[in-house]
Amino acid sequence: MANSIITITNMKKQYPEGKGKFTALDDINLSINSGEFTGIVGPSGSGKTTLLNIIGSLDVPTEGEVITLGESIGKLTHRKAAKLRNKNIGFIFQTYNLLPVYSVYENVEFPLLLLKMSASKRKKAVLDALEWLGLTDKIKSRPGQLSGGECQRVAVARAMVKLPEIVLADEPTANLDAENAHNILKMMSKLNKELNTTFLFSTHDEKVIQYLTRQILLKDGKVVG
Ligand SMILES: Nc1ncnc2c1ncn2[C@@H]1O[C@H](COP(=O)(O)OP(=O)(O)O)[C@@H](O)[C@H]1O
Ligand SMILES: [Mg+2]
Repeated sequence: MANSIITITNMKKQYPEGKGKFTALDDINLSINSGEFTGIVGPSGSGKTTLLNIIGSLDVPTEGEVITLGESIGKLTHRKAAKLRNKNIGFIFQTYNLLPVYSVYENVEFPLLLLKMSASKRKKAVLDALEWLGLTDKIKSRPGQLSGGECQRVAVARAMVKLPEIVLADEPTANLDAENAHNILKMMSKLNKELNTTFLFSTHDEKVIQYLTRQILLKDGKVVG
């Protein structure tokens, strides 16, 4: 497909369980186009995190094929997988995963240190990302001095700073109150429209679902709608 940046064909993921295997994802077929704002929606244990992790090359499929930005995930060397993630994929987690001893500025700058980028370009990118997320006045704060909503905005700025093609957000509102959840969804929706960044969420939060332009329903490791 012309525009498809994630293509999954007959994909299965199994984990060892006792002497047998546990099937976490079964016969997944999916295509996601550039610029979509999609959610993988399903209850706890349905396989959402496993699916996002494989798409993001943090894990590999057991069978079938997952192509992310033209790369076949099961076939990448560790080095190539790291390069794909560092350049083109931003991750947002439920628990923010910020580095506590670093400032907001340093947390957002961190992914750029893995890329070859001049100091002046890096500074501009960090300041832009912090401005998009309304964090300009928190530059020197450390995560411990921020609210949950602010921490998650820092995590979104960190995901966006390198202008990735894809942002994978695993239950990003799970620890946020309603106001902060709406706030952050509005910001991500705006970035999706303005920068054409593809967003893929995992969620079962109604507040997230109302912003999605497409839902992929997952149940017991299978796509059911
Ligand atoms: N590393 C692993 N080893 C064994 N089982 C796993 C592993 N990761 C996930 N699972 C199992 O796979 C299923 C799907 O998990 P997960 O993808 O985390 O679901 P969700 O994110 O929808 O809650 C669960 O039953 C979980 O226990
Ligand atoms: Mg999960």
